[in-house]
Amino acid sequence: MPFKTVLVTGGAGYIGSHCVVELLEAGYEVIALDNFVNAVGNAEGSPALQRVEQITGKKVTFYQCDLLHKEALEDIFDKHTIDCVIHFAALKAVGESMQQPLMYYQNNLLGMLNLLEIMRRHNCFQLVFSSSCTVYGEPESLPITETHPTGTITNVYGRTKYFIEEMLKDLSAADNAWNIIALRYFNPVGAHQSGLIGEDPTKEFTNLMPFMAQVALGKKPVLTVFGDDYATEDGTGVRDYIHVMDLASGHVAALNLLNSKHLRIKAFNLGTGKGVSVRQLVGVFERVTGAKVPLKMEGRRIGDICAMWADPGLAKEELNWSAKFTLEDMCADFWRWQTMNPDGYPKKLKHSSCNGHSK
Ligand code: UFG
Repeated sequence: MPFKTVLVTGGAGYIGSHCVVELLEAGYEVIALDNFVNAVGNAEGSPALQRVEQITGKKVTFYQCDLLHKEALEDIFDKHTIDCVIHFAALKAVGESMQQPLMYYQNNLLGMLNLLEIMRRHNCFQLVFSSSCTVYGEPESLPITETHPTGTITNVYGRTKYFIEEMLKDLSAADNAWNIIALRYFNPVGAHQSGLIGEDPTKEFTNLMPFMAQVALGKKPVLTVFGDDYATEDGTGVRDYIHVMDLASGHVAALNLLNSKHLRIKAFNLGTGKGVSVRQLVGVFERVTGAKVPLKMEGRRIGDICAMWADPGLAKEELNWSAKFTLEDMCADFWRWQTMNPDGYPKKLKHSSCNGHSK
């Protein structure tokens, strides 16, 4: 029987909220949970999810819940028949992960273990795991296919993604009931076309696009370019930037595949297949937005790699998915979100809260 109800952990976050839009539009019932470490909100609800409801005209059932609180999680599984889980919830700041490895291992690994244990107890064996291209480490060859070796990672955050992938492999080897897809994201950017939802970092701005937008808004004076001596066309680092709505539709494609096939476990790259340098991205952003982004060249950032882009062929073949949005779309949509919400989400919720239930 096709899945009906999907539990989305980290549903109020950047990728989670965009994914919830796509799930609702595809006809799924969504139960979202979040602990609000990386997103604005409280037990009353989340501005991101309220806006998801505004965009889609559909309801999201919401819980404030931390995956480390097993009883609260168990309650949600007791209350609802959950067919499938998409697991986004995780700590994700690379720098912070190097300073506080125990916090990262505890939160990301233990959160995953609790979720798996409770899923198994409730006979829910369908899982989409939010992984990252970071599991590949420094690429041995480009573009990167899913068969590229994994595990030589330079940061703790990335290692949590890798360790979870390994745990999931062991689990599926031990128990044939599991049906798992790990989606290895390249660099998600952009925002929903409405400008209502987007990336709102609750910690510092460390990723390129949100930082660049802060500079364009005049909130930060200059964009520091970390390294212009890489072996790339213009010397700056190269990444595969992917529109967050393309990423979101990749999750719906993953659910379709889980619905139709018993895979046990399989990993897919979600990227565009195109490498873009820092300078190129800044150039497109300036052209599309008409804003100026002053640059300052500095040395390489520790742990950064030179260049990385995906071979998205497997996702095209088996998920029947490919990225549709251009770099121009990514910049225009991010800028719309940023100019409509220069300070991110409102810190206070609108009265008609989105949550059907809250914890
Ligand atoms: N960059 C700058 N200046 C900035 C920010 C970034 O020049 O202020 C450059 C980086 O050096 C890199 C590129 O822009 O060349 C992209 O950097 P991001 O920080 O946006 O993204 P990363 O590729 O470093 O990080 C991504 C994900 C992480 C993941 C990491 C692993 O955001 O979650 O890949 O490779 F861990």
